[in-house]
Amino acid sequence: MTDLYCVVGHPIGHSQSPQIHAAFATQTQQDIDYQAIEAPLEGFVTTIQRFFAEGGRGANVTVPFKQQAYDWADTLTERARRAGAVNTLVKQSDGSVLGDNTDGAGLVTDLLHHHVALCDQRIMVVGAGGAARGVLLPLLEQSPASLLIVNRTEQKAQQLAAAFGETGPIASHAVDKPLAAPVDVIINATSASLHQSYPPIPHGAIGPHATVYDMVYQAGCTTSNQWAQSQGAGRCLDGLGMLVEQAAESFAVWRGCRPQTEQVREQLREALSE
Ligand code: ATR
Repeated sequence: MTDLYCVVGHPIGHSQSPQIHAAFATQTQQDIDYQAIEAPLEGFVTTIQRFFAEGGRGANVTVPFKQQAYDWADTLTERARRAGAVNTLVKQSDGSVLGDNTDGAGLVTDLLHHHVALCDQRIMVVGAGGAARGVLLPLLEQSPASLLIVNRTEQKAQQLAAAFGETGPIASHAVDKPLAAPVDVIINATSASLHQSYPPIPHGAIGPHATVYDMVYQAGCTTSNQWAQSQGAGRCLDGLGMLVEQAAESFAVWRGCRPQTEQVREQLREALSE
């Protein structure tokens, strides 16, 4: 019998997830059906309850419901608990639903895929919203030399650094305080590119050896990455690979087998530029 999966969000029309999971299923010969479901803004719980009551095996959850999914799940993985958000729900054999978060793992896998070193490196995360919080634990697990959080609203960066202070070498840094030496990796976890803007990166942070990673993706170079290049960044990457890798991680959690991602990356990149 075909196993049912879905992604729930609002809006959901532009989600690439059905296409990605269909490709993974074909490649790994798994018999699954994966649909996009748009829940009303006030109707996440009703929608997700109905999906699992009707036999759903697992779901992805996207904007704006990741925190509601966190509250709704019966149990949480450690990485979901630390992220404060759930993007993957898994029906358990006892009927309960486990909440997981594969976003941070997706980012780390994509960075490593591009041979971006993280261990012993100086990392800067720009942004202090849900996207930033979701990647801190997986980044710290890579044993960086340091992890600085910078945010337009500095207080939120301070709060986030304090919340993860016991996990690794993390600190907040004021936007207007220059850095004495460039960092190695800058993760842009702000939504600045979506507003055709660029993130608040302190003077001196970007250098010719720095990799700048924008979690947003679009056809061509994102607005933030264009700006980072103009500031002398050695290398800029966007979040398309993270999208594919978080999906692969969810697929592995659900099905117990990990799909190859290369072909799907290429297909999505091609489709974007059409
Ligand atoms: P998400 O859950 O996707 O992280 P969010 O909680 O709204 O979304 O957070 C968005 C992040 O992008 C925040 O860090 C926000 O900065 P503030 O905390 O100061 O609001 C940041 N951000 C959004 N638009 C920005 C812009 N144009 N320039 C700089 N930072 C921006």
